[in-house]
Amino acid sequence: MRDIVKRKVTKAIFPVAGLGTRFLPATKSIPKEIMTLVDRPLIQYAIDEARAAGIKEFIFVTAKGKSALEDYFDSAPELEKTLRKKGKTDLLRELRATDMDSGAIAYIRQREALGLGHAVWCARRLISNEPFAVILPDDVIAAEKPCLQQMVEQYAETGGNMVAATKVAPEEVSAYGILSVTGSKDKLLTVDDMAEKPSVEDAPSRHAAIGRYILEPAIMNRLKDLKQGSGDEVQLTDAIAQEARNGGKVYGYCFEGQRYDCGSKAGYLKATVAFALARDDLKDELTDFLKQLRFS
Ligand code: UTP
Repeated sequence: MRDIVKRKVTKAIFPVAGLGTRFLPATKSIPKEIMTLVDRPLIQYAIDEARAAGIKEFIFVTAKGKSALEDYFDSAPELEKTLRKKGKTDLLRELRATDMDSGAIAYIRQREALGLGHAVWCARRLISNEPFAVILPDDVIAAEKPCLQQMVEQYAETGGNMVAATKVAPEEVSAYGILSVTGSKDKLLTVDDMAEKPSVEDAPSRHAAIGRYILEPAIMNRLKDLKQGSGDEVQLTDAIAQEARNGGKVYGYCFEGQRYDCGSKAGYLKATVAFALARDDLKDELTDFLKQLRFS
């Protein structure tokens, strides 16, 4: 009999309680996830991707100073009334993307920024015994078929724990969780261990885990017992690595698409330019400007 687990993923955790120190001083008062690529906040791209993958319950792990994020998903009756009166149907349509059904969104507080693993663990009571997705909104992925949708489809076939994987340059491995790969088939890598931010000499491969995961509930139990690891933070990578080392199924999924690391200044700027150039209303003016800059 084929070892196939067919399961549906309907819950996603969005850990947004980090301090965003790489964007200080801006992030002193603006949550990083509210920063925009052109005119849409990073969190909007993450929500759209989750919806496309069939996610129905959106769990935000937030912290002090993130109220702008909660406000973003509230209804805005006065604004809508004014737009309606002025016949601004395009803008009303844009606003609709921020609508969340009552009860579809939950906020959990992380009292202290103890790391991504700890942030995910904070949502344990809302997950119970189901598989769940984790989306890091500062990893923005432009793809014809949204990345999480690609993974959910793969997960329906294989089950297990799945992390989005991308190949990075040797000098970049020390910034990522790196997969130890024992085999591969099409886009799927079989993983038997992971190393969090290894040196280039110790890195088991150049396959890095990036901000999309589908995880089985067993990961929550691993997180419960984890101590702070690299960078003094509770690392999600360490829980997944433990699961892999103890015989749990862990896969890397080599998604199709262009990923932008919007948690870094350079990545955020690249994404801003790329997303603006993809827009009909902006591309000509911006292209002219970039040419001028290049040749001035
Ligand atoms: P990052 O390390 O990229 O984000 O965490 P950060 O800590 O906010 O930013 P820097 O490094 O100080 O600039 C990856 C994701 O995990 C969340 C972050 O909000 C981000 O979405 N996170 C991180 C938490 O929710 N809690 C934490 O304790 C740490």
